[in-house]
Amino acid sequence: MSEMASWLDQVYCEDALAGLARIPDASVDLILTDPPYNLGKDYGNASDQQTVAEYLRWTEEWITLALPKLKPNGSLYIFLTWRFSPEIFVMLKQRMTMMNEIIWDRRVPSMGGSVRSYSSVHDTIGFFVGRKDYYFDLDAVRIPYDAATKKARSRSIFVGAKWLEVGYNPKDLWSVSRLHREHPERADHPTQKPLEIIERMVKASCPPGGVVMDLFMGSGTTAIAARRCGRHFVGFELNAEYCAIIQERLAAPLDADKPEKQKAVRKPAAKKAAAPKKPAALKKPAAKKTVVKEPVVKEIAVKKSAAKKAAVKPAAVKPATSAAEQPAAAKRSRAVKKTEPAEILA
Ligand SMILES: C[S@@+](CC[C@H](N)C(=O)[O-])C[C@H]1O[C@@H](n2cnc3c(N)ncnc32)[C@H](O)[C@@H]1O
Repeated sequence: MSEMASWLDQVYCEDALAGLARIPDASVDLILTDPPYNLGKDYGNASDQQTVAEYLRWTEEWITLALPKLKPNGSLYIFLTWRFSPEIFVMLKQRMTMMNEIIWDRRVPSMGGSVRSYSSVHDTIGFFVGRKDYYFDLDAVRIPYDAATKKARSRSIFVGAKWLEVGYNPKDLWSVSRLHREHPERADHPTQKPLEIIERMVKASCPPGGVVMDLFMGSGTTAIAARRCGRHFVGFELNAEYCAIIQERLAAPLDADKPEKQKAVRKPAAKKAAAPKKPAALKKPAAKKTVVKEPVVKEIAVKKSAAKKAAVKPAAVKPATSAAEQPAAAKRSRAVKKTEPAEILA
């Protein structure tokens, strides 16, 4: 049996633009990524606070580096908002075929909001493919009809109707509640995405045992979703505090990720620590690699790459957790192939 590639099932705590060099070309089935939207959020780095010109240039740069990693029949999903989705969709349309613009309705309750425009309550997701025979498993993401609908169709003419049994095709409007502070799935990341959405993308667009790559892992939702769906993952995250959250989420028992069961993974210190209060940390020539053999989340020095802005305020690199300290997590990360996907899109 061939040995598993060392980069599989790893989240590297480093600048994605530098880290992409680790990934062989044409090795990834799905790029599923949620980059900074450039709305001024504080991720402990300046990635969301760039000028428009810098942000678009940086976006084009990471797209250029990431796309060669995709297999020819692979796909890409990108989370954006209306502010920059027009420009970024145009960039991607020059290199791939756009299949959908998916609207994620965050189910924001009606309480006040904008007074000089309409309150924005959705994110915009682009779904792109490389060529016509792209992988897409519709049956894996059909939405079962509810009991009332089935009952209403119980007349003899509907008995055995395949469409009634298999459920309906998801539409391009996805109404899924955002993870408010009290949501059981919520970790301490300001823009964490719901597993329900990410798992739908993984099941539809990455074959079982395939590889999902996320350049901007945040709290690690893509890694968790891939693991729960029996897919491999690889990704990057610049902020060491968020890397610690990812490690914690990946170390939890598999079924702890179920939205209905998962306990909140909160690290109140994360936000504070994310602010670069100790510039001394930047000077540390310790920018050397912290070599770790088997951790799920690899903490390595944040290198200053072409993404200058993103690397302006890197969080201090903490001592890496050794494989010996995290044996269960390391083992689980290798067990990804055996994972039985849990259906949560009922
Ligand atoms: C929108 S958030 C991702 C949230 C994630 N989808 C989740 O569910 O938690 C974007 C993340 O990208 C990270 N980031 C920004 N620039 C980066 C870079 N150059 N390399 C790696 N990560 C970066 C930020 O620190 C932030 O956590």
